[in-house]
Amino acid sequence: MALEFELWYALLLLVLAAIAYFVFASFVFGAGYQPTPRHAVRAMLRLAAVGPGDVVYDLGAGTGAIVFRAARGCGARVLGVEVEPIRLLVLRLRRATGPAAERIELRWGNLFHLDFRPATVVTAFLWPGAMARLRPKFESELRDGARVASHCHPVPGWSPAAYDPAADVYLYRWPEARRAPAGEGPRDKG
Ligand SMILES: C[S@@+](CC[C@H](N)C(=O)[O-])C[C@H]1O[C@@H](n2cnc3c(N)ncnc32)[C@H](O)[C@@H]1O
Repeated sequence: MALEFELWYALLLLVLAAIAYFVFASFVFGAGYQPTPRHAVRAMLRLAAVGPGDVVYDLGAGTGAIVFRAARGCGARVLGVEVEPIRLLVLRLRRATGPAAERIELRWGNLFHLDFRPATVVTAFLWPGAMARLRPKFESELRDGARVASHCHPVPGWSPAAYDPAADVYLYRWPEARRAPAGEGPRDKG
């Protein structure tokens, strides 16, 4: 009886440890795991006007809330980069079992090592520190006309072209985003 209890207890600890790993381990790289809510995904793709001509980079693709909607719903070509291997496996399974696989590239790696130059749209649901780290990379690599859609956390110091408060989505256009709104920033003085 006592042994049975110990086995169940060990199993419970194992399950809790697995959940904690799945959700929190990637924190050290820039964000834990939480899928972007559907209404926020819709707002990100709508505000960024994602269409068949776009190349979308989803930074931290998770299990694909943004990746598959952008490719299958909007007709875009999509690159999803994900650091956590179990989520990458889920992404690969989802790609293999649905349409538009040829438009979806999945990469196992660190989003901070990506070259953003080919992207016309960048999507992110990351933590504030990661957004701050991304800013100089965006500023040196984004092409003119590129859009950045971020759920929950802004790009610090940038001016959004639009903000959807219901979905908590910021939309930026590069290079306009680095200009402070009229009358607010040093660039507007003198
Ligand atoms: C909040 S989740 C968002 C997931 C996905 N974009 C979605 O909409 O469902 C953040 C994801 O970013 C991944 N991530 C965090 N830091 C990363 C890094 N440096 N490189 C690649 N992926 C990263 C995490 O593993 C996690 O899956």
